[in-house]
Amino acid sequence: MSQTRPMKKILVTGAVGQIGSELTLALRQRYGAENVIATGRKTQPSRELLESGPFYFIDVAKRETIEEVVRKHNIDTIFHLAAILSAAGEKNPQLAWDVNINGLYNVLEVAREHNMARVIVPSSIAVFGPETPRKNTPNETILKPRTMYGITKVAGELLGDYYFRRFGLDVRGLRYPGIISNVTLPGGGTTDYAVEIFYAAIKFKRYKCFLREDTRLPMMYMPDCIKSTIMLAEAPLERLKHHCDFNVTAMSFSAGELAAEIRKHIPDFEVTYEPDFRQQIADSWPESIDDSAAREEWGWKPDYDLPAMVRDMLEVLGRRHKEGKLGWPPEGA
Ligand code: SER
Repeated sequence: MSQTRPMKKILVTGAVGQIGSELTLALRQRYGAENVIATGRKTQPSRELLESGPFYFIDVAKRETIEEVVRKHNIDTIFHLAAILSAAGEKNPQLAWDVNINGLYNVLEVAREHNMARVIVPSSIAVFGPETPRKNTPNETILKPRTMYGITKVAGELLGDYYFRRFGLDVRGLRYPGIISNVTLPGGGTTDYAVEIFYAAIKFKRYKCFLREDTRLPMMYMPDCIKSTIMLAEAPLERLKHHCDFNVTAMSFSAGELAAEIRKHIPDFEVTYEPDFRQQIADSWPESIDDSAAREEWGWKPDYDLPAMVRDMLEVLGRRHKEGKLGWPPEGA
């Protein structure tokens, strides 16, 4: 039970999503393309994802669809990224429950029955709530979220820890902050503004933000998100005191501070603030996070702070805009 077993055949759920689309490619590079099986529910995968290795449509809420791929490819590890995020979950709490709770239960059960080496299940800052200390939020603290997403993530952390203690299944997870990236747009999150703002700055030099200017949240750039996920997955089991609930972070900023940092590169960039229902969600989450448990137990350390992240985002998206491939605003928006 305290042995770290190798990960040889990996299944990624949610592989078409914001994080999954980049994590799958990183895992394929590291573990071999044919050893990393990508899966999604309904969104069409990018050509790169499709051409770089195996891909299947599955629905994690339907256990037999997971089972089929697991058997076919002799899977020993699952990176379970499929989830309905905070804002989308408030629009459809029933779907959020089905995907996030029943989906996770199915993944854990399939992993247990197949005696898998590892399951990685991300959690989120959404596990925290209004009663949680908002600054430098500790790993061990009050978890009374107000969103369906948060409720499912707290349950997921507890369930993962239960499977480890009860069945010896090596389940690990980390509480992602808002993730900023430039490959696949996020869908249905409260922190999505911190991605949209870059596309809008480059294309229109203006952005209407759905959170207040002073809303401060913990965040992380995608390279750090990928790095933290793989670091945790590969950490020696005997060094872990926590399992499914590691705080991780890289930076914290308000919407106004992010706009100001972008303005250093695009001086005439204008932002207006029109908070919607997502403001209440953001107000229930921490401003900053204490991730010392992750640092101590598996050596976590981020590479990107706010200026470095902004510089890189603008460089990458600026280049794509010049090639006429920015893809903003997204189709159907
Ligand atoms: N980015 C997520 C959201 O906003 C937080 O985990 O829902």
